[in-house]
Amino acid sequence: MKILTVVGARPQFIKASMISDVLKTRANADEVIVHTGQHYDDNMSSVFFKQLELPKPDHYLGVGSASPGKQIGRMLEKLERIMVSVRPDIVLVYGDTNSTLAGSIAAANLHIPIAHVEAGLRSFNKKMPEERNRILTDHLSDWLFCPTPAAVKNLGREGIHRGVYQTGDIMYDVLLHFKSRALQQSNILKELSLSPKHYDLTTIHRAENTDDTGRLKAILKALQQLKRKVVFPLHPRTKQKIQAFGLTHMINHPSIKTTKPLRYFDLITIASEANTILTDSGGLQKESYMLKVPCVTLRDETEWTETVETGWNHLAGADPKKIIHTVQALKIPQVHPPLFGDGKTAEKICTILERS
Ligand code: UD1
Repeated sequence: MKILTVVGARPQFIKASMISDVLKTRANADEVIVHTGQHYDDNMSSVFFKQLELPKPDHYLGVGSASPGKQIGRMLEKLERIMVSVRPDIVLVYGDTNSTLAGSIAAANLHIPIAHVEAGLRSFNKKMPEERNRILTDHLSDWLFCPTPAAVKNLGREGIHRGVYQTGDIMYDVLLHFKSRALQQSNILKELSLSPKHYDLTTIHRAENTDDTGRLKAILKALQQLKRKVVFPLHPRTKQKIQAFGLTHMINHPSIKTTKPLRYFDLITIASEANTILTDSGGLQKESYMLKVPCVTLRDETEWTETVETGWNHLAGADPKKIIHTVQALKIPQVHPPLFGDGKTAEKICTILERS
């Protein structure tokens, strides 16, 4: 079984690490890793390969940043060439980025079966590129590995029943595998002079927040008005937009501590010791649940509805009053059901693919 894995963005390196690890142990599996180069900064890409022990990519496409059309187009052309020469049995894609969509379209054009990890998620907001990427990818896929029952239901509503498996969430596998090593090895609390549970963690990178001056300004205003110590690792996109919109003064504030994007071990350490997490990231919403840290989501909707239903996650959009009120009213819920599986998602996915 020859699997061609397409990755390109930071969360995909994290997700792919566990499946690559399991594939290495399967005698009849051969994995070829293609990195599109969607994320290319060292601290967005190579540090993850090193820390999570991902094999070096066999092919690096170097597409870099561009408008969605250009970026996906560049990926498609290069992926097609590689798929024709590698001739994989399966193309494996993760999540909902432009790299996911390009991998699926290239494979579909060549009639290569597609496996989609993190299938079935929906925000029901087609303005988000991620929503379009995941809908299109799901409809092209032959194996759809869903993290939750809600994801299975979403696919059913769109008429997708064949090849659907509820396997649990791959990010939970990664967290279980690396958490204790992360807590042992990371010095980030010391480096940033943070005391456990005496700070909040925030991340913003979604286009709907970063590319809209009004929303970005409103979120930064909320962070200032919270009057609590907030650690804010800056995604390159967010940093550029803050500068371009002339908002740098808003993050130069005594209670806001900005940092460069964090390595996985540092992020997990800082997240697990945070009082509250405020984020627009899908991955961090899940990780905050897994780490039992309450989350305030800086979006109007979420794909991870179970985290909201269980009371661990709260939607606050980009409205400063709502954000501050939500943070101040937070209570730690009594219940914490296992929403994301048993940490054996990678094993299950590899076994299903092997049986095919
Ligand atoms: C992408 C995904 C998003 C995912 C996120 C994780 C899409 C549509 N979005 O968003 O779903 O949650 O990755 O981080 O695929 N940049 C750099 N260096 C880098 C990477 C990006 O400077 O290594 C800057 C560039 O200015 C670029 C901008 O960030 O234009 C946005 O990068 P891009 O890859 O287009 O999307 P993300 O915002 O990272």
